[in-house]
Amino acid sequence: MTLPNRSGYLIAFEGTDGTGKSTQLALLHAVLQDKGLEVVATREPTDGTYGRQIRELYNNRSKLSLDEELELFLADRKEHIDTLITPALASGKIILCDRYYLSTVAYQGAAGLDPSDILRRNDFAPVPDLALLLYAPIQTGVDRITKGRGDILNDFEKEDYLLEVARQFEQLTLPCIRRVDASATIDEVHRTVLNHVFHLIEK
Ligand code: TYD
Repeated sequence: MTLPNRSGYLIAFEGTDGTGKSTQLALLHAVLQDKGLEVVATREPTDGTYGRQIRELYNNRSKLSLDEELELFLADRKEHIDTLITPALASGKIILCDRYYLSTVAYQGAAGLDPSDILRRNDFAPVPDLALLLYAPIQTGVDRITKGRGDILNDFEKEDYLLEVARQFEQLTLPCIRRVDASATIDEVHRTVLNHVFHLIEK
């Protein structure tokens, strides 16, 4: 079932690493699918040409200048929008996107670029109907990555950097943003997410 008489919805999950975006996205995906809605789950960086180049940078970030890094994220997003987001929106689907342009504002802003300039450079991107900004103490996220998943922190996940990323996220005040306390249990966060999403799609 597609949504009646309107184009689809774009819902972005944003926040620092380890806040549970991907878990929450999967839970929401299942609920919406059970309701018979057409849902597409996707993520940035994508698995396309530019997204793969970005992943290669994870443990060797200093290979590129900040401007070159930003260009890569923007190129990945343009490709994502052209090949997936715009067509899916036009056919009335609900798109759940694990990270979108607010991540660029916060992460590349934290790295030293001007946040309002980054936002302007993303003018080409459809504004999300909802940007769920998950926040939790940075230490909680870092522990989830290192102890929970047994991973080593990559260049984008170092604690001091993430504190600055969190500060950048805190300063954002766009109308599409809903802040979600991600230090609550998975179930509690899921219920909050559902409230925001149902409020949007049942309008
Ligand atoms: P992440 O969602 O953690 O992907 P993965 O599961 O593949 O590790 O995102 C990867 C990193 O990329 C994350 O630390 C944030 C960073 N990032 C940016 O710096 N700018 C951006 O525009 C995006 C989308 C992500």
